[in-house]
Amino acid sequence: MQTKTTVISPEELHRQAEFCGEIREYWADRGIVPKAFVDTYGCQQNEADSERIRGMLVEAGYGLTDTEEGADVIVLNTCAIREHAEQRVFGNVGALVHTKRRHSGQKIFLCGCMMGQPAVSERIRHSYPHVDGVFSTHHLWEFPELLLRVLKTGKRVFAVEDSAGSIAEGIPVARTNSLKAWVSVMYGCNNFCSYCIVPYVRGRERSRQPEDVLKECRELIAAGYKEITLLGQNVNSYGRDLGLGVDFADLMAAVAEIPGEFRLRFMTSHPRDASHKLFDTIAKYPKICKQFHLPFQSGNDRVLKTMNRHYDSAQYLSLVEYGRSVMPDLVLTSDVIVGFPGETEEEFEDTVRLIEKVRYDALFTFIFSPRGGTPAAKMDDPFTKADKNRRFDRLLEVQNRISEEKHRAYIGKTVRVLVDGRDGDQLTSRTDGGRLVRFSGDDSLIGRFLDVKITDCTTWSLVGEYCGQQ
Ligand code: SAH
Ligand code: SF4
Ligand code: F3S
Repeated sequence: MQTKTTVISPEELHRQAEFCGEIREYWADRGIVPKAFVDTYGCQQNEADSERIRGMLVEAGYGLTDTEEGADVIVLNTCAIREHAEQRVFGNVGALVHTKRRHSGQKIFLCGCMMGQPAVSERIRHSYPHVDGVFSTHHLWEFPELLLRVLKTGKRVFAVEDSAGSIAEGIPVARTNSLKAWVSVMYGCNNFCSYCIVPYVRGRERSRQPEDVLKECRELIAAGYKEITLLGQNVNSYGRDLGLGVDFADLMAAVAEIPGEFRLRFMTSHPRDASHKLFDTIAKYPKICKQFHLPFQSGNDRVLKTMNRHYDSAQYLSLVEYGRSVMPDLVLTSDVIVGFPGETEEEFEDTVRLIEKVRYDALFTFIFSPRGGTPAAKMDDPFTKADKNRRFDRLLEVQNRISEEKHRAYIGKTVRVLVDGRDGDQLTSRTDGGRLVRFSGDDSLIGRFLDVKITDCTTWSLVGEYCGQQ
């Protein structure tokens, strides 16, 4: 693998904009307004990438549609994190044979993390001939050129060469939500947790320049966005590669100082280098949500070591303690893996104990899924699928009880929410901590920050009451 970040020059991006122009002419000559369907699998990084794919398509003259039926181009932005995610993609790609038959000229592209694995792109090349184009995340900025080539030649394109990764500023973005925006601050990951495919498919860590991030945030706030989530696989490493002396806490503080009514979130932070400074910064700025997603993965020190996580449970707990000492109401969420190769029943119990100790507000539980090419995929694993399912169910039960208890404690309190939409006869909104609150009200409240009194709850959401103007 190459180790150098490629910064895509403005000239190269200008060429891509010209290709968009050629695509517009291609369709205009045929008297057609083309339609594009973009489907996203996986995490917010992929959501953010899809918004750039849509942006390029809009610039190339496509209208966006929410169904593959009748679309002139289909783009599936894929995820490789677990086997299940990949199987879904293969299943859906297979089914597109029929969709394509019903719409001659339809072009199908696959991109995203799965396409960063040579075995996957080879499988697509040989077994899915109806797929017209494949590109990995490093090649996202070249999409207009790839699409034009497919339209003009009818030949398949594969842009999957291995690379440390690229940084491209100025790709057009078509955002799907008018209130909440994702802003990637860095790409890739250097951590190589032994189970994880991300460093292999997204390349080495590379940070955007602080002024580029700030400019994008200023524009979003000026355009009326009310919530910005700064994204990176490991935001605590932000800036290390730039050598400017600006770390993630500095960057977040600078965003929080932009005038305007908005709130700020971030994802994700690795406990290995989550600094006190970061907690202090969150505590200091009212605009930064008092929520921290701090994945612990396992409560057992031997398992953590084999996972290559570089912290132990005591260090993790002391971080949590520090966070809560500076923000007593800090909302904590986390990821955990059950059934890591060789995890014994006793080791699993350490995970349960850690959950009981921390009492997370929400927990994302995953059953270990072996990923080809990662060290953990080769580790011996004497435990059965049934053992792992049982552990998974146990965690769910423990967490559901904690979530419900935490929800119940909200009853009678007044919380600040951002109203983000409607579901049936109720408005939906989110607290600072990301909790879903439903309440009655009219659509004019959508997009506003309000104080809502909590009157009831379920395991998944809070029920509130809004009484009047403020
Ligand atoms: N960069 C983030 C995680 C991104 S992946 C971080 O380090 O916090 C999101 C979650 O998927 C991880 O936290 C982990 O819990 C889970 N995950 C990653 N690889 C997995 C695998 N091979 N099997 C099961 N779960 C996995
Ligand atoms: Fe994967 Fe670990 Fe990087 Fe997160 S920090 S993306 S779990 S390698
Ligand atoms: Fe999946 Fe890639 Fe995200 S593997 S979880 S889409 S970084």
